Amino acid sequence: MRFLRHPLCIFTAVGVLCLVLIYRHAYTAATYVAQQPVPFEHSTHTAADKVNMQCQSCHAGAEKGAGAGMPASSACMDCHRHILADDARLLPLHAAANADSSVYHGEPLRWVRQAPLPAHVHFNHGYHARKGVSCAECHPNPDAPTAHTMQSCLDCHEKHALPLNCDSCHH
Ligand code: HEC
Ligand code: HEC
Ligand code: HEC
Ligand code: HEC
Ligand code: HEC
Repeated sequence: MRFLRHPLCIFTAVGVLCLVLIYRHAYTAATYVAQQPVPFEHSTHTAADKVNMQCQSCHAGAEKGAGAGMPASSACMDCHRHILADDARLLPLHAAANADSSVYHGEPLRWVRQAPLPAHVHFNHGYHARKGVSCAECHPNPDAPTAHTMQSCLDCHEKHALPLNCDSCHH
């Protein structure tokens, strides 16, 4: 076992330990806030004493479709052609959707999904909306989305006395 005390071996062991710790730190954080192309805040846009927009006006699919969907960049320009028109934070939006701007290139903004489900689970927004489940029950704070766990689905389904058979959620 003398080779275990070789400097190269100790060096490698320390390196591997560091990688494991970094990996665990990165993937066990309770909330993970991705770097978005524009520092968009839900609170500004949806609070009753601010812009007071409805969720569905930007995520139209959530009422009827399977996916909620993301707003078109042009829909943001309806307001931001006038509001914060010269604000540097909105330059990527002008590049995406304001043909009069000098930075315009027309590539839509690419939002980063923060709490997607794994591919083996299927979820239907429209189905839940028709049964009267509100957005806030599953998305209490869309500015800091937390992962949807299997337990979070089952807890509510149990309350509604739904059958918990695996293939209703899994392919
Ligand atoms: C003005 C348009 C707008 C309105 C209104 C709006 N959203 Fe969003 N929403 C966005 C944009 C843009 C993103 C992508 C950036 C981000 O994640 O913050 C997003 C992202 C999300 C996400 C993150 C999904 C993920 O996994 O990444 C959820 C959940 C969400 N919105 C729910 C809501 C709910 C609930 C409401 C109503 C309270 C709402 N939104 C109102 C524009 C909007
Ligand atoms: C109905 C009008 C309206 C629409 C539509 C709208 N915004 Fe806004 N937005 C506002 C107002 C009002 C403010 C606050 C202005 C201020 O701070 O003076 C704001 C603020 C912002 C800010 C500054 C940070 C923050 O959120 O407070 C960003 C970034 C922004 N909006 C991005 C967007 C994006 C991206 C979209 C499209 C997904 C969008 N907005 C759609 C009205 C709107
Ligand atoms: C019963 C729980 C539940 C309700 C109610 C719900 N959502 Fe979701 N939402 C989810 C889950 C789970 C995901 C992740 C879906 C995926 O990754 O396939 C999600 C994803 C999203 C996304 C990301 C984009 C997308 O299409 O996946 C947005 C935006 C969103 N929801 C908005 C809303 C809005 C707006 C409402 C209300 C009209 C709403 N949600 C109601 C559970 C819910
Ligand atoms: C806040 C409550 C709530 C949460 C959270 C919730 N659901 Fe539901 N779900 C319901 C209700 C209510 C129904 C409709 C019951 C009925 O048919 O009357 C439903 C129905 C369903 C159905 C169809 C019923 C069946 O057995 O075929 C599926 C599939 C489903 N939900 C998947 C999910 C998944 C996946 C999640 C987690 C990502 C989730 N739900 C989270 C309330 C919820
Ligand atoms: C109401 C919806 C729902 C039902 C019913 C359900 N699951 Fe899940 N399941 C989920 C969701 C959502 C995830 C993803 C959770 C995550 O990514 O953390 C998941 C993840 C899993 C995973 C992956 C494990 C993991 O931690 O990622 C397994 C295995 C699994 N489910 C098995 C089952 C079995 C077996 C049953 C039946 C006894 C079942 N599920 C019933 C929604 C459901």
